[in-house]
Amino acid sequence: MTDNAFSESERAAVYRAIAERRDMRHFSGGTVAPALLRRLLQAAHQAPSVGLMQPWRFIRISDPALRGQIQQLVEQERVRTAEALGERTDEFMKLKVEGISECAEVLVAALMDDRERHIFGRRTLPEMDMASLSCAIQNLWLASRAEGLGMGWVSLFEPQALAELLKLPAGAKPLAVLCLGPVQAFYPAPMLVLEGWAQERPLDELLYENFWGVNQ
Ligand SMILES: Cc1cc2nc3c(=O)[nH]c(=O)nc-3n(C[C@H](O)[C@H](O)[C@H](O)COP(=O)(O)O)c2cc1C
Repeated sequence: MTDNAFSESERAAVYRAIAERRDMRHFSGGTVAPALLRRLLQAAHQAPSVGLMQPWRFIRISDPALRGQIQQLVEQERVRTAEALGERTDEFMKLKVEGISECAEVLVAALMDDRERHIFGRRTLPEMDMASLSCAIQNLWLASRAEGLGMGWVSLFEPQALAELLKLPAGAKPLAVLCLGPVQAFYPAPMLVLEGWAQERPLDELLYENFWGVNQ
């Protein structure tokens, strides 16, 4: 800790938001007040980005018919994903992987067009644009948790189909359908763990010293 550190309760709040953030797929309808939604999006917008390119674009889906079409795209991809999973097909089909029809707000997060001219930090790693957008989404996720709202990141869709539906310009790419809104309760652990789909690995298994695979 240094003189620049937050107070003890402020630090606890930051770590609490990180620990209790969950990917939510069960929502309880309701609304998100415009000022609160604005605050959350401002938090997203304060994210770091490679070369300060700010590649994020957020599209708020307010048209119920459009929301329904997005849900259909996700459903199509859910079925294709299940087929691709082979022996885990049935198990996957039982999982709830999105809450598009029940959540208060649907936001689509997309990478902007014309990203090629941003070379700073991307010459060898062009995917840093995606990393930057992910930072913005994580800010939104954490701020939402602090505000008591759930958020779910849905990536089960054909990006080209969603881009066409939302009239994205050539070169722009949707990366996330974000479900946001009130929830009855936050899952106490990742839903995929609770459902027995996957297990989390402890930090020490993923933390190396000097060389890959060498644990401390
Ligand atoms: C990039 C990204 C894409 C994701 N896409 C989906 C998705 O399409 N459907 C879904 O149910 N969960 C999705 N998730 C949520 C993960 O399954 C979830 O983060 C993980 O199981 C850990 O749970 P937690 O976020 O509650 O800690 C996605 C998460 C990330 C980071």
